[in-house]
Amino acid sequence: MTKPAFADLLNVEDARRAAKRRLPHGLFEYIDRGSEDELSISGNRQQLDAIRLAPSVLVDVSQRSAKAEILGHSQPLPLVIAPTAMAGLVWRDGEIALAKAAARAGIPFCVSTQSITSVERIAAESGAKLWFQLYVWKNRQRTLALIDRAWAAGVETLVLTVDTAVGPNREYNLRNGFGIPLKASVRAGIDLMLHPRWTASVMLRSLIASGVPTYAHYPDEFRTRLGRSSLSDELSLATDVTWEDVRLLRQRWKGKLILKGILRVDDALTALSHGVDAIVVSNHGARNLDCAPGPTEVLPAIVAAIGGRMEILADSGVRRGADIARFLALGASGVLIGRATLYGVAIGGADGAGRVLDLLSYELNVTMGMLGARNLADLRRC
Ligand SMILES: Cc1cc2nc3c(=O)[nH]c(=O)nc-3n(C[C@H](O)[C@H](O)[C@H](O)COP(=O)(O)O)c2cc1C
Repeated sequence: MTKPAFADLLNVEDARRAAKRRLPHGLFEYIDRGSEDELSISGNRQQLDAIRLAPSVLVDVSQRSAKAEILGHSQPLPLVIAPTAMAGLVWRDGEIALAKAAARAGIPFCVSTQSITSVERIAAESGAKLWFQLYVWKNRQRTLALIDRAWAAGVETLVLTVDTAVGPNREYNLRNGFGIPLKASVRAGIDLMLHPRWTASVMLRSLIASGVPTYAHYPDEFRTRLGRSSLSDELSLATDVTWEDVRLLRQRWKGKLILKGILRVDDALTALSHGVDAIVVSNHGARNLDCAPGPTEVLPAIVAAIGGRMEILADSGVRRGADIARFLALGASGVLIGRATLYGVAIGGADGAGRVLDLLSYELNVTMGMLGARNLADLRRC
C-alpha cells in the first residue's frame, strides 16, 4: 500500500501547527483567530466538548456508511467546504486546490464572494460541485450581476451570509497590518522573509503572473486605478441588508437558496416563510460577534421549531470527526468545514486539504462504529 500524502499528519491540530509554521504570521492569524476577546472561539470548543454521545452496544457495525443527502444530492460524506475569503492567499490558486479536494471527496465547495480566484476559473479547473456565497454589495445591481455570473458558471446553490451585518472587529489584523488591498510595510517584509517557502510559492508567483492578489469577483472596471476609487464605495459590504433582499434574491435565483449564520428560532422561521431551502446554523467560526451563542446551544430549538420543513446545516468549530457526529446528533443534516481544510490547503494544496478531509472522515467512521451507528440517521438516537 502506498503511504497517503501527508501521512505524518494525524489530526487537524497537526495540520494547524504545520500551517502556522508555513504561513506568514499575519496571514495565519487572519485564518486562525476570532474577534475581540475571542470568547466565542473557546465557547464553541467547550460547548462541543460538553456534548457527550452515549453508545448503543452490541450493534453489528461491520457495514457503516456516512452517506448523506444534502439539498437533494447524495454524497459520501455529510460535509461541505465552507466559503473562506482569500483562501487563494494561503496556497497558489488555493480556492482551486480546495475545490479539487472537495471534488475528490465527492462533496461541494462553496466559493466566497471574497475569493482570490474567480468562480469561472474554479468551475473550469476543479470539476467540483460549486456553491456560491454572497455578501451583498452596496450597489444591488452589481450584486445581482455577480450572482448571474455564478449561475452562468454552473452554480446552482446560492448561500447568502446573514451574520456579517457590519465589518467585524479583529484587532490582530490591525496590529499585523493585514487586509485587502495588501499593503507593503517593514513588518510585512520581515514576515515574508521569515516564511520564504510561502513567499516564493504564493506571493512571488502571483506577482509575476497577475500582480498583487485581490478579490476576483470585483467587476473589471475596478481593476484600473481610476475605476478603483470611483467604484470602491459601491463594492463595500452593504449594512442595510434586510429580509427584503432575501425576498428579491428568492425571486431572482432559480436554484437552491441558503441563509448562512442563523442563530435564532424566529429568524429560522422567517427564513422558512421566505421560501429558503436551507439554513446554516453558524456563528461564522467565532469570527464575528464575540458574544454570540455557539451553534450547538441553539441548534436543538431551531431543529424542533422547523420540524423537518427546511434543511438545517451547521458549522463552527469542527476539528474532529466526533464534532461532525455531535452536530448531526443535534439534528443537522450536514456540516461545513472552514479552518480545518484551510490548514490543510496551506501546507499542501489539494493533497493537504484532501488529507484533512480523509482524517475527518476516518474519525467520523470510528466514532460511528463506537456509537453503534450504522448510518447518519442512527446518530440522532445518541
Ligand atoms: C479565513 C476565513 C474566512 C472566511 N470567510 C468567509 C466568507 O467569505 N464568507 C462566509 O460566509 N464565511 C466565511 N468564513 C466562515 C466560514 O464559512 C465558516 O462559517 C467557519 O469557518 C466555520 O468554522 P470553522 O472554521 O471552525 O470550521 C470564513 C472563515 C475563515 C476561517
